[in-house]
Amino acid sequence: MNLKKIVLIPLVAAGMLAATQTAMATTFKMALGDAAGGTQWELGQKFKSAFEQKTGGKHKIDLFPNGQLGDEQNTVNNAALGTLDFSVLAINNVTPFSPTVGVLTLPYVIQSAEDAKKLTQGEVGKELTANTIRDAGVRIVGWAYSGFRVLTNSKKPVQNVADLKGMVIRVPKNEIMIATYQSWGINPTPMAWSETFTALQQHVVDGQDNPYITVSAMKFNEVQKYITNLRYLFSLEPLIVSEQVFQDQKPDVQKAILEAGKEATEQSFAYLQATEEKIKKDLVAKGMQISDPANGEKEFIQKATTAVWPKFYKSIGGKEKLDNVLKTLGR
Ligand code: MLT
Repeated sequence: MNLKKIVLIPLVAAGMLAATQTAMATTFKMALGDAAGGTQWELGQKFKSAFEQKTGGKHKIDLFPNGQLGDEQNTVNNAALGTLDFSVLAINNVTPFSPTVGVLTLPYVIQSAEDAKKLTQGEVGKELTANTIRDAGVRIVGWAYSGFRVLTNSKKPVQNVADLKGMVIRVPKNEIMIATYQSWGINPTPMAWSETFTALQQHVVDGQDNPYITVSAMKFNEVQKYITNLRYLFSLEPLIVSEQVFQDQKPDVQKAILEAGKEATEQSFAYLQATEEKIKKDLVAKGMQISDPANGEKEFIQKATTAVWPKFYKSIGGKEKLDNVLKTLGR
């Protein structure tokens, strides 16, 4: 007997079996950068229950919070390769892979939760979803709305741009956020999300920015004292699916993914409205001190919009992309 055949037949059979198993029941993995309890968790849980219900329990989703499956930017790579199914992560950690998404992270473009909803659920969101498939091999199927990224630090209250002088602030590895802090006169420290808590605890960095809900979910109150209500960046956290994995699914499963994503998105918006104020009070009760930027944040706004917007026209696809977003928002 042909020896090659003896070896090949079991391999082919094993391959066929694996393929059949994939086509049958599948348990998908979903990575979350944040600890359980925040907006990422809410979105993931809602998506899981809606998806499992729509597929009659045939397909399941397991959630892995707290960066267990890698830091947020790595999860984009893994999903692009098809080795990870789903991930929920901050939009600023998608931008490095699909720069046009940066139009949502330019400072002070989004000025309210309503703005965020309008952009993500309208034509702009559709175009950016198509771009992430093209550029990064991942498809956005849902959005968590997490609120404005407030600045926290362990040193002193910050109300003016000058108060930032001498502070070491961690930012994600995101060019737009780095440029924003540079426009305020400091060089921030780019660092993976998964390393941030320890860096704050060990005073490698003095501060960082993230929404109230994330500050609370990550227990940053244990290592940070002061909060400044900056409103430069509204945190959007897309739920992405590997495009490769999505295309491997039958049409009914694809439909379930898209519908569950929509339902989870709606729920996320309601969750933010219902929770943010409560969490803010809770953080104060735990000893955090909150201040507003002086003069209605004018100095922060003026410096950031003047220096940062023009710098990124090219990467977002041209100035007209920003003009279109502002027009959509009625500005
Ligand atoms: C970051 O700061 O890297 C992200 O905002 C973390 C997150 O997803 O909450």
